Amino acid sequence: MKSKSLVSIDQYTKDDILRILGNAEKFEENPNRNLLEGKVAATLFFEPSTRTRLSFETAVNRLGGRVVGFQDASTTSSSKGETLKDTILMVSNYVDLIIMRHHLEGAAQYASEVTGVPVINAGDGAHQHPSQTMLDLYSIYKTQGTLENLNITMVGDLKYGRTVHSLINGLSHFHPTFHFVAPEELRMPEVYKLFCDKHGIRYYEHTDFSEEVINQSDILYMTRVQRERFTDLVEYEKVKNVYILRNKMLENSKDTLRVLHPLPRVNEIAYDVDENPKAYYIQQARNGLYARQAIICDVLGIPV
Ligand code: CP
Repeated sequence: MKSKSLVSIDQYTKDDILRILGNAEKFEENPNRNLLEGKVAATLFFEPSTRTRLSFETAVNRLGGRVVGFQDASTTSSSKGETLKDTILMVSNYVDLIIMRHHLEGAAQYASEVTGVPVINAGDGAHQHPSQTMLDLYSIYKTQGTLENLNITMVGDLKYGRTVHSLINGLSHFHPTFHFVAPEELRMPEVYKLFCDKHGIRYYEHTDFSEEVINQSDILYMTRVQRERFTDLVEYEKVKNVYILRNKMLENSKDTLRVLHPLPRVNEIAYDVDENPKAYYIQQARNGLYARQAIICDVLGIPV
């Protein structure tokens, strides 16, 4: 039996990704299967979450497992000064799987190094969000019929947005062309552009969120400006509403375009977009259940 943590999407080969997407498809056909009977998962959320925590917990419940954990670290002994290492070691005494979100980059890697229990990274600071990437890839595959040779436009906070960082890694196997639309202050970090250079991936940077860019896109991946990552809130105020997608901006876009957003949204997608058939962000979040069921089984070495 294989047992391994998922800390970063770049642990997965193209074959791994395709296998997990295939399993997500099976879970979408039938999400209620007793594959985790007798197993307990811990959800340790040191940062707020709606979708990631609830879809992971639903995934475990629908697979016949049980869940313990916390959604507010201030109610745990970490508020008394207990270290992350000790918290992980204690939780490891009780459970078969740890699903953790933490504000510190590298926290999931660290946790996976101090315990033999598999750890799934549910987001570490501005670094990675690999389970989000799997559900994004699943959503892209379902809506486009392929992951290959797509024009992917990422809009908003490309500096702090961990979902776009993971998605670049995840899509790198499939010959994408990226358009990075961000204000100067929130540009895609050099490390991800160097990654694209190294892998021969085309990318273009824009500060203007123009219809020209929208109209050549297959996927428009909107993101929220990550208020919680700013040390200076004056800087946040300057950029918080920098781009707002409105329905009329989609008038001349491809029929097959789909608008994705990892959510939560603040102001970056106007509510008039919701009724447009190209809006896919609500279904995208639903796909998280199936993708996370597939990931859980994969890290626990459970055949699907
Ligand atoms: N996409 C995402 O991570 O959402 P939550 O913060 O609600 O988990």
